[in-house]
Amino acid sequence: MDKPKVFVSRILPEKGLELVRQACDTDIWTDELPPPRQVLLERVRGVDGLLSLLTDPVDAEVMDAAGPGLKVISNFAVGYDNVDVAAATARGIPVGNTPGVLTETTADLAFALLMAAARRVVEGAEYVRAGKWRTWGPTLLLGHDVHGATLGIVGMGRIGRALTRRAAGFGVRVIYFDPYCDAGKGPYIGVMVRCDLNELLAEADFVSLHVPLTDDTYHLINAETLARMKPTAVLINTSRGPVVDADALYDALAAGRIAYAALDVTEPEPLPADHKLLTLSNCLVVPHIASASWATRTRMAIMAAENLLAGLRGERLPNCVNPEVYDQK
Ligand code: DGY
Repeated sequence: MDKPKVFVSRILPEKGLELVRQACDTDIWTDELPPPRQVLLERVRGVDGLLSLLTDPVDAEVMDAAGPGLKVISNFAVGYDNVDVAAATARGIPVGNTPGVLTETTADLAFALLMAAARRVVEGAEYVRAGKWRTWGPTLLLGHDVHGATLGIVGMGRIGRALTRRAAGFGVRVIYFDPYCDAGKGPYIGVMVRCDLNELLAEADFVSLHVPLTDDTYHLINAETLARMKPTAVLINTSRGPVVDADALYDALAAGRIAYAALDVTEPEPLPADHKLLTLSNCLVVPHIASASWATRTRMAIMAAENLLAGLRGERLPNCVNPEVYDQK
């Protein structure tokens, strides 16, 4: 019997690719950059399965270009805002993602950004490299204490909780806003207080975003919400770039209405080297690396491969974001 045809839109860690190659007739886009739109539309033609990345917009046009044989879309990410899930559901196509395996790694980076921002680690390193370090100085590069501070977590899902555990270990008080979850009844009661978004913004020394990108969270952090934050506050974003209005953030940072932003994700992404945010010394940007550890990316690749292969076999995906497709059958 012929192997199912699949398109994989980038080189993944080998353990995941190996699973796909063994079971499928596999076409892999091997460039460092994502396949251009036209290439994606061509390469998906006639495939049974698509293993996509968050950099590939997978919409109705892509699904239709693939044709009626498309059985599964497996996204190599926990976030799936790049996939038009409603269009997939309408076509009876299950969409897979990779939740859970990147929780701790992402929380590590969120906490690293928090620490780096508070203690001006990147500015310090740049200062030394620029040859400016002439003596120990009583007021040189003063930052803010992390211990004793209040961290406001927006979105208390898996990553928000993992960040809470790190914060608790550093003597940080956590408050959180999440309309859907009352984590105060969970295992971390005592270090966490649930509040509304405005209270959180007014009280937090660090605000860390952990929400998916949806119509409700698009530009959740904007001129109005930034104005509610303390002038000494730090904003950390490891969720999705468009959750923050980049123009409003620039204005707030440039005017000193908030102290610092540490961003793993941006709008647009990638952020052009001449973007105005990069002219600010109080804005730290890293290139969407929150899940980028060897172990985690390998687990994500295996999980994405397992979703893909399950869909090709006509089995329920181990991690499916639109399980309602199974009710239609
Ligand atoms: C995700 O998985 O959604 C991250 O943004 C990349 O790992």
